[in-house]
Amino acid sequence: MSTAEAIEGIWGEFEKALDRCGDAASVENLRAGYLGRRGVLREAFAGMSGMDPESRREMGQRLNELRSRIEGALDQRERTAAPTRPATTDLFDATLPGIGPSVGTRHPIYRTMEGICEIFERMGFDIAYGPEIETEYHNFEALNIAKNHPSRDPWDSFYIDSQHLLRSHTSPVQIRTMLKRKPPLRVIAPGKVFRPDDIDASHLPQFHQVEGLVIEDGITFSHLKSVLDMWAKAMYGREIKTRFRPSFFPFTEPSAEMEISCVVCGAKGCPACKFTGWIEILGAGMVHPKVLENCSIDPERWTGFAFGMGVERIAMMRYGVRDIRLFVENRISFLDQF
Ligand code: DAH
Repeated sequence: MSTAEAIEGIWGEFEKALDRCGDAASVENLRAGYLGRRGVLREAFAGMSGMDPESRREMGQRLNELRSRIEGALDQRERTAAPTRPATTDLFDATLPGIGPSVGTRHPIYRTMEGICEIFERMGFDIAYGPEIETEYHNFEALNIAKNHPSRDPWDSFYIDSQHLLRSHTSPVQIRTMLKRKPPLRVIAPGKVFRPDDIDASHLPQFHQVEGLVIEDGITFSHLKSVLDMWAKAMYGREIKTRFRPSFFPFTEPSAEMEISCVVCGAKGCPACKFTGWIEILGAGMVHPKVLENCSIDPERWTGFAFGMGVERIAMMRYGVRDIRLFVENRISFLDQF
């Protein structure tokens, strides 16, 4: 093999290897492989030792030229090569703050329910809970709801069998509390309730209520009004006004509905208050003597008041949510806002 052929052989191998170089690091490796201390060119120079002086001179010259060509090619390639990605271990920096797990937020319905209860708790109310599967007796009978009352129609409640149903309101917790504890009583009962309503923008078959019950010495309708007015002002702001309108519930006498001045328009009139300036917020009344008797509480000795409110309605007003279904769709983009 002539000197020229040997040189071209080395160059050809080098070019092929250079073609395979994907990034700056592999170009650097190739440089070491050809020009380094144990590189191809070093070996070729070392191989000249046995040659006659003539060939050695020629070979030396050609190898020097080859080294310049290789250096030039490597330099040029290095300038255009893709930067080398650091090995994955280099990406780990233990001093950086960690990526915290997403812990979510409190559901707006539960937030609202807790907000409602907290105000009553500050007024000395205890929290009471009752079962979601109720007996007909606790859900209707003991609350003085007559057998022929429309709410007892099998189509208006989720019956499980002839004597059990998913509670249609939180009022049975009043009965359970009065049967278990003796007055004086001041309790608030939050929880889920169920009605077979068709789903639309303001109805769901499962929703939440907060019930209240006070049985104490000398309780009158003015206590009812002042407690609920204080609650409304704590919930919505001092400027809120309340008004009471006569109503009917089998378990209270007299009964009333409390309205608050519209929080959306400041009582000027808007679609939220149907242009009346007022929004109905809860039902209430003086506990019916029959209900007290059903719980073995002497109506001649004790009086009290009760109230019940729908949490979804209050949350919708509080957060300006127009469609109740948003609360149960489990859409993170919606829930993240609370
Ligand atoms: N239970 C009633 C309902 O679901 C709400 C209610 C009204 C509760 C008056 C009360 C009350 O305690 O006194 O519509």
